[in-house]
Amino acid sequence: MSRLDSHIRRMIAQRDTIDLAAERLAQRPGMILEFGLGQGRSYSHLVERFAGHEIVCFDRRDAALRGWGPPPDRLIAGELETVLADPAVRTRFAGRVLLAHLDLGSGVEDPTIHRLVAACIHDWLLPGAWQLRQVHTRDRVSHADRYFAYESMSG
Ligand SMILES: C[S@@+](CC[C@H](N)C(=O)[O-])C[C@H]1O[C@@H](n2cnc3c(N)ncnc32)[C@H](O)[C@@H]1O
Repeated sequence: MSRLDSHIRRMIAQRDTIDLAAERLAQRPGMILEFGLGQGRSYSHLVERFAGHEIVCFDRRDAALRGWGPPPDRLIAGELETVLADPAVRTRFAGRVLLAHLDLGSGVEDPTIHRLVAACIHDWLLPGAWQLRQVHTRDRVSHADRYFAYESMSG
């Protein structure tokens, strides 16, 4: 498969997975977190699908196209390894997050940052969640093997 076809598949899987998450979650209150703002493509999709929700982005820098990024108070800029250890950041999100979207690179070669984020945001998720389970998206998402969805469960 060409790299172009592979890229297109991943983009379709990303869009469909966000759409599915919105179908399941958008009516519920809570914050949306975008880990990996990049050029703001998936952020703009989250804004459309989660209208009315507070959406906060993380990245080491603001590289979003002008007019397509979050307002300054909704971008936390810096290395995730540093900002996730900041007590003020941890307090801001504790127990308030409805959806965390991780788009930090594939993680295939080095999943370290994905594991770090998952571990750090554990107690940020709503409500009383202590465990994540994989959401099976194959019947709803094209190329579902290219994007992974998890939901929190309690008890
Ligand atoms: C694939 S791009 C994100 C694409 C973006 N979601 C979009 O749709 O335009 C990955 C982003 O993750 C950021 N990133 C990766 N590792 C990071 C880290 N350790 N700390 C902060 N940002 C990181 C990069 O700076 C990059 O902008």
